Amino acid sequence: MIVNTELEQKGNLFPSRIIGYKKDVDTLYFTTKNNVILQVTIVRDSVIRFRYATTGKFENDFSYGITMHASRGYSFLEITEDDTHYIIKTSKLICKVEKLSLQVSIYDAIDLVLINEDEIGFHWEESYEFGGDIVKMSKISQKAESYYGLGDKPVDVNLKGKRFENWVTDSYAFGKDTDPIYKAIPFYTSICNNKAYGIFFDNTFRTYFDFAQERRNVTSFWAQGGEMDYYFIYGPQMQDVVANYTDLTGKPHALPPLWALGFHQCKWSYYPESNVKQITKTFRDLQIPCDAIYLDIDYMDGFRCFTWDKNHFPDPKRMVTELEEEGFKTVVIIDPGIKIDLEYDVFKEALDKDYFCKRADGPYMKGKVWPGECYFPDYTKPEVREWWSGLFQELIEDIGVKGVWNDMNEPAVMDVPNKSFPNDVRHDYDGNHCSHRKAHNIYGMQMARATYHGLKKYAYPKRPFVITRAAYSGTQRYTSTWMGDNVATWEHLAIANNQAQRMAMSGFSFAGSDIGGFAEQPQGELFARWIQLGIFHSFCRVHSSGDHGDQEPWVFGQEITDIVRKFVEIRYQLLPYLYTAFWKHINHGTPILKSLVLFDQEDAQTHYRSDEFVYGDQILVCPIQEPNAKGRRMYVPRGKWYNFWTKEIIEGGKEIWVDADIDSMPIFIKEGAVIPKYPVQQYVGEKNFDEITLDVYYKAGKEKSQLYDDAHDGYDYKKGRYSLRTFKLTGKKKEFILTQHKEGTFDAAYSKFIVNLHNLPFKIASVQIDNVEVELNQSEKGESQSITVDKEFSELHLFAK
Ligand code: NOJ
Repeated sequence: MIVNTELEQKGNLFPSRIIGYKKDVDTLYFTTKNNVILQVTIVRDSVIRFRYATTGKFENDFSYGITMHASRGYSFLEITEDDTHYIIKTSKLICKVEKLSLQVSIYDAIDLVLINEDEIGFHWEESYEFGGDIVKMSKISQKAESYYGLGDKPVDVNLKGKRFENWVTDSYAFGKDTDPIYKAIPFYTSICNNKAYGIFFDNTFRTYFDFAQERRNVTSFWAQGGEMDYYFIYGPQMQDVVANYTDLTGKPHALPPLWALGFHQCKWSYYPESNVKQITKTFRDLQIPCDAIYLDIDYMDGFRCFTWDKNHFPDPKRMVTELEEEGFKTVVIIDPGIKIDLEYDVFKEALDKDYFCKRADGPYMKGKVWPGECYFPDYTKPEVREWWSGLFQELIEDIGVKGVWNDMNEPAVMDVPNKSFPNDVRHDYDGNHCSHRKAHNIYGMQMARATYHGLKKYAYPKRPFVITRAAYSGTQRYTSTWMGDNVATWEHLAIANNQAQRMAMSGFSFAGSDIGGFAEQPQGELFARWIQLGIFHSFCRVHSSGDHGDQEPWVFGQEITDIVRKFVEIRYQLLPYLYTAFWKHINHGTPILKSLVLFDQEDAQTHYRSDEFVYGDQILVCPIQEPNAKGRRMYVPRGKWYNFWTKEIIEGGKEIWVDADIDSMPIFIKEGAVIPKYPVQQYVGEKNFDEITLDVYYKAGKEKSQLYDDAHDGYDYKKGRYSLRTFKLTGKKKEFILTQHKEGTFDAAYSKFIVNLHNLPFKIASVQIDNVEVELNQSEKGESQSITVDKEFSELHLFAK
């Protein structure tokens, strides 16, 4: 036991020795002499939950973060004790609890290597002001240990040496290192000695994390209230840590409709209707693909949610229908603040039904937002969520709006120093009544959840599409997200890159930044570079405050317009690749973007890389983040990679210089990959095509790739109407084999694959498809090395002379 008199003097309390032990199926209880209980639950062989009570009694066990669908169950559990410890053993982990101090240490069950150990471990301070405890945990930080995750923090990817706070905050024009900002995702992953683990601190109060900043060898986390309640998630692969965390807090309930993965255009604000139409028409005239147009707050009547300004939008249903005919989905903003106005039915109903949040002593929580003084629904009450969901009927079912954008849901309040509700506001918290101190970080999440349920219901049989600004762990189950009010600067381009990577490794893959920057106006060069990054984020939307001029792709002149078109076309071609990555995400919790450390943790070079990332499994991207660049240096992870543009092969594991003029950027394809490509379309579903391309990047050896497909909307895929194609490539000196294994009952409209073979080391002399020799036509024999096959082929076999 580490006796820490200095901490004791500061009012900290510590568990004393264990005097009682009890086991109840998968849960163990250790009670100390001073009435602390440590509850250890074996969630899975590699996931253990630790929960501490200081009064001999736990709170009601309720979490917005953990999904009821989380996998549970372990294959092995054994508990033993010796003189000093209780020893809990699963097939993956050994966890020792010290009898004298309640301190925990965790080892790999196979090689017995220490993965993580408490320093002081659990300790606490009684909260004089609010009651309850300030709960704290400190752990040893090993010398070579690195830390990642924590959601949207605007810092480099590796968090070592830094301290953070989680308190969802409206952060207009935040900067590098601004903390906290919009999201609270109290989850981090650590890697040391090639073993990765994660910690999810499921506490919705204001939480803090210190990654060896205050003390070089200590990492700690604490909260201003609630319980010390954390999940320890072991890898040893970081990808498994992230997948298990995502399983615990939930994968998106459904795939997004494919159009939601297209390019989206937004501004604060497009109005009146003629302006909206002008924008959408220009996209079509200039042939820049686009699937969605957004209406910001000015579409409403006096900023009253669920109303329309009939001067600017006289017939919303007609407009939305006409936009749809042109291939544009309409997405509208909905904020939480409801204008105080007895003539306004949404307000009136919520008032009558007592749905608004109240202060401690009974008055309503009144705050200023866009409409002026507002009250705010308490989304933490099931009845209120149900009512809120119902409000979307007209917008979605009748008018035909396809997506809803939830903003200001931190909740943001204007003209008050803390930018939000005061702490004394009361919340239902699904029957676990509490103050805003506990509900603040999940307020926006519960709003987005209610919005999602409304869209799900009224968009049926189509899939819902929701975006939120505020989020807590688990929000990814319901919605996509963006990073809030960034700025049109080069630094912010780099921040957006890091944020999207960090969100993905925090279980939230459906995310993107305001491309071009929200505040201020970008130069054309910055805009083009940001588009280049943005097409590799799963949510790809241009948005701006509109204060400083326009930010559509064509306002920066011909050259930039052409570059934007070129890159947006690449996004549209790669849609089947992105959709497959999404499918992996919702099925296996695999992040869609992988920071290099997540891609290859064994290579210590990757632990401090921030700029490069892998999109899906096989495309390496590195945005240009500086003006006037003709290229850049970047790290290429181990293995062989094809330069996407030149098809030149690079041996990775080193830094290289890559040429990338303004109309290019560093993109590499993993050797052996089979990359599916659609023809360019102006919007999803524009064309009926008979063929899709498979870009095959030859490798001497074997490689596996997948292609997922379904109807791109609706839920039939959940009943087996999907197709999953697994391609296995085998490359030899004078032979090449591509096999296809099919699963699912969906039959796509296209009938053929055009197989483009890159770098085949021989000229094709003969071809067998499913063991039958086929005649080669002239073009197939030539240099282009491209073969057309029926999409149901099982084996394509190419031979040299
Ligand atoms: C703040 C949001 O972050 C921004 O995207 C939006 O345009 C404005 N609110 C106005 O609704």
